Amino acid sequence: MSRQIRSIRGMHDILPEQSGAWQWLEARVRDTLAAYGYQEIRLPILEQTELFARSIGEVTDIVEKEMYTFEDRNGDSLTLRPEGTAGCVRAGVEHGLLHNQQQRLWYAGPMFRHERPQKGRYRQFHQVGVEAFGLEGPDIDAELILVTARLWRRLGLDNLRLEINSLGSPEARASYRQLLVDYLSGHAEALDEEARQRLHTNPLRILDSKNPALREIIAGAPSLLDHLDQASREHFQQLQALLRAAGVEFTVNPRLVRGLDYYCRTVFEWITEDLGAQGTVCAGGRYDGLVAQLGGRPTPAAGFAMGVERLLSLLETRGGLPGLHPPHVYLVMAAEGALETGVQLAEALRDALPGLRLQMHCGGGGFKAQLRRADRSGADWALILGESELAAGGVGLKPLRQAGEQETLQRDALVARLARCLEISPSPHDAKESPVCP
Ligand code: HAM
Repeated sequence: MSRQIRSIRGMHDILPEQSGAWQWLEARVRDTLAAYGYQEIRLPILEQTELFARSIGEVTDIVEKEMYTFEDRNGDSLTLRPEGTAGCVRAGVEHGLLHNQQQRLWYAGPMFRHERPQKGRYRQFHQVGVEAFGLEGPDIDAELILVTARLWRRLGLDNLRLEINSLGSPEARASYRQLLVDYLSGHAEALDEEARQRLHTNPLRILDSKNPALREIIAGAPSLLDHLDQASREHFQQLQALLRAAGVEFTVNPRLVRGLDYYCRTVFEWITEDLGAQGTVCAGGRYDGLVAQLGGRPTPAAGFAMGVERLLSLLETRGGLPGLHPPHVYLVMAAEGALETGVQLAEALRDALPGLRLQMHCGGGGFKAQLRRADRSGADWALILGESELAAGGVGLKPLRQAGEQETLQRDALVARLARCLEISPSPHDAKESPVCP
């Protein structure tokens, strides 16, 4: 036997038993975003490497250590997207969607980072990203946070807390950076290897360090919030007032800095204690400089992305996820000429009952073996085309999950019965999963 090929470490298949939960979550995300007027944009997974280096920042973990970068056959350096904001801005500039316009956009799909895989941290993971362009006030920051708060309510999640901070203007941040470097240089001997490296490349990230040995030094560092420019301070205060008015609870965390360089002013994260170390399920902020940095006209912007795997894990801890979508009915055909009648019947039923999940038996075999398959499929009913049903011009209907006799129905009566039992709704997402037929 040849050697079996396995999936790449940190990149997972989403199996049929899981995909129902993904679809369930995606449908709720889509509806919630539509309720606020956001439109979907679909973006390529591969971009030019320079796009990420210029936006996320040359001295970030993502660009320095985590990107899947390769040369294609033309010798161009390409990268599997590690996040979606850069590509969304690139597309917005390229198609003239941003200048003097307001856009509310979202995208969903796989992202790639060569991180050390562990629970909640993968090399291929999925984000839903949301970006708003052309709006500079704190109102849009508040709206973005309200979208997420509504989504958590819809999903029944009450174990998420919101942390917010302001990074100020790039100028204010640059002078704060110098203050921070001066302060940390005074404690250089106590810093760990990583912090020492970051001291001259990305000192703000030291504030984010998880090393308990640095806790005290970090606690004593000057706070960015005390060094905000006036406009950023007002922006941040207005955002807090809006969140209070909307009844969204939050804490201000002056050490929240984010790992991507494009942010300014508002940054925020939704965090849970229920997923261990990878507790941030959604994060984002304002990035007013990025559009111009990528060749567009200066355009204010803000957004966030949520990690779909982390959200699903969180939902799983709550036991709130739907599983498989078994067929409603399984069609058994065991008689001479039954297959032709069966194929035609199955198509007619699917025409008559949108939303019906009908699985047709394939592969032949005797009546008993087919019924066993019907049972294993998880269907609520078997439809049966045997000799006697064919002779009577009808179809057998046999309940598989509850007591009751098999009966033979004519086709019209069968359609009416199934429609009543299944309460088939035009929207497949809202269809009843386990109808009980009286
Ligand atoms: P980020 O914080 O890098 O931000 O990622 C957003 C979310 O994606 C994280 O909070 C987490 O839930 C999820 N995530 C990140 N890395 C992984 C991983 N290796 N495995 C599983 N989940 C992960 C961004 O990507 C920004 N583009 C967000 C944004 C949009 N800011 C403005 N607009």
